[in-house]
Amino acid sequence: MWSFFETVRHRHSVRHYQRDMPVEPEKLHAVLEMACAAPSAGDLQAYHITVATRRATREALARAAHGQAFVAEAPVLLVFSADPERSAAHYGERGRRLYALQDATIAAAYAQLAVVAAGMGSTWVGAFDETAVRRILGLPAHLVPVALLSVGYPAELPAPTPRRRLEEMVRYEEPPSGGGSGPLGDAGG
Ligand SMILES: Cc1cc2nc3c(=O)[nH]c(=O)nc-3n(C[C@H](O)[C@H](O)[C@H](O)COP(=O)(O)O)c2cc1C
Repeated sequence: MWSFFETVRHRHSVRHYQRDMPVEPEKLHAVLEMACAAPSAGDLQAYHITVATRRATREALARAAHGQAFVAEAPVLLVFSADPERSAAHYGERGRRLYALQDATIAAAYAQLAVVAAGMGSTWVGAFDETAVRRILGLPAHLVPVALLSVGYPAELPAPTPRRRLEEMVRYEEPPSGGGSGPLGDAGG
């Protein structure tokens, strides 16, 4: 099993899957457990996961994802939906608008890393017709599908994609001392 850092570094979007390699139920279960281990606002876990495996459903979801063919190629699709009212009941508008969305996407991110740690690959798919996905999966009206993960054994080794430089994206309030090797923050009050 890879360390967390290796797992993150080895995660690349996989858009081709081995057709003769279905996902083992125990691996899928482990991935779902890791998704549900994610933090959530007030521990309300304001999201829902649909596991789609039937070919007809996967093909319909690929069409709903504007014809992205790899969506149907993956043996398993995990659809993460936010449950805004579950969060709103406790946190009002902020829960409805923000927390439920964060709950669902953090769970999806955990699942995506768990997929890699389990020796498989995935792609996060956000480009889809929400109404079509709702209809295909028969989702109740209170759920909002926000992310779809295609999951399976990779049939390609994707090259790493570029990232913006850390310096461009991170601002230290207080530059690290000692050429960057000094300790950060003070532990006391
Ligand atoms: C919110 C979001 C939406 C995305 N939607 C799609 C998508 O619809 N189709 C797709 O092929 N990839 C999609 N991706 C994957 C990105 O293209 C990919 O993560 C990015 O190019 C970086 O490549 P990497 O995942 O290999 O590091 C999405 C990723 C995120 C986080």
